[in-house]
Amino acid sequence: MRLLADAVEVRYRGLADPVLRGATVEVVRGETVAVLGPSGSGKSTLLAVLGGLVRPTNGTVRVDIDGSAAPRPTDVTTWILQTTNVFSERTALDNVAVAALTLGVSLREAYLVAARHLAAVGLFDRRNSLARHLSGGEVQRVVIARALASRRPFILADEPTGQLDHATTCVVLDALFEAVDESAALIVATHDPTVAERCERVVHIVDGRIVPER
Ligand SMILES: Nc1ncnc2c1ncn2[C@@H]1O[C@H](COP(=O)(O)OP(=O)(O)OP(=O)(O)O)[C@@H](O)[C@H]1O
Ligand SMILES: [Mg+2]
Repeated sequence: MRLLADAVEVRYRGLADPVLRGATVEVVRGETVAVLGPSGSGKSTLLAVLGGLVRPTNGTVRVDIDGSAAPRPTDVTTWILQTTNVFSERTALDNVAVAALTLGVSLREAYLVAARHLAAVGLFDRRNSLARHLSGGEVQRVVIARALASRRPFILADEPTGQLDHATTCVVLDALFEAVDESAALIVATHDPTVAERCERVVHIVDGRIVPER
């Protein structure tokens, strides 16, 4: 399965120039890809286009599965964001189980899946804590567990460690890269070279254009 942005241009209303100018990116299931570039270069926009949240003004975004009828980008992607978007008055387990429930499994199965994913990110012992009682790094690990519980093949992470200190960043990245295996691809927009170093591939974006790989 591939997620493909082909010659994508994005113009936001009110801006004179396009934010993406003919960007072509292909991500294969199982890959880890870092998107690097200066602030305002279009990283978040590229992720939003890949995830089907922003419609390109020109070019196409599609999912390709060996020529068969393919799902839409919104059906195959899930998000890890810099801002914490969890239910703060719910437990870690509830926050992860909700993603598994969208797959149509029973409540009991969803909680078993959630416990397993929380264990994988080192939070099994905190599974019954309210999200508002967790540290920033712990919440980010809950969000990683939730992304994995959704079983979407493409994880779009927009500066997932942007608000964390160095030590916590390392813990969160360990959890993220251990959890992402060949079943899912990770596409991570970041300013952090340590994130990029852990990815198999780097996409550089400058002024809305993809520049050749290093
Ligand atoms: N919804 C929007 N409407 C209008 N302009 C937008 C919108 N979203 C982003 N932009 C503009 O598009 C450009 C690219 O923004 P984008 O968020 O993709 O950059 P980025 O590379 O992710 O930057 P950063 O590193 O600061 O997160 C910026 O000039 C931004 O102001
Ligand atoms: Mg951004």
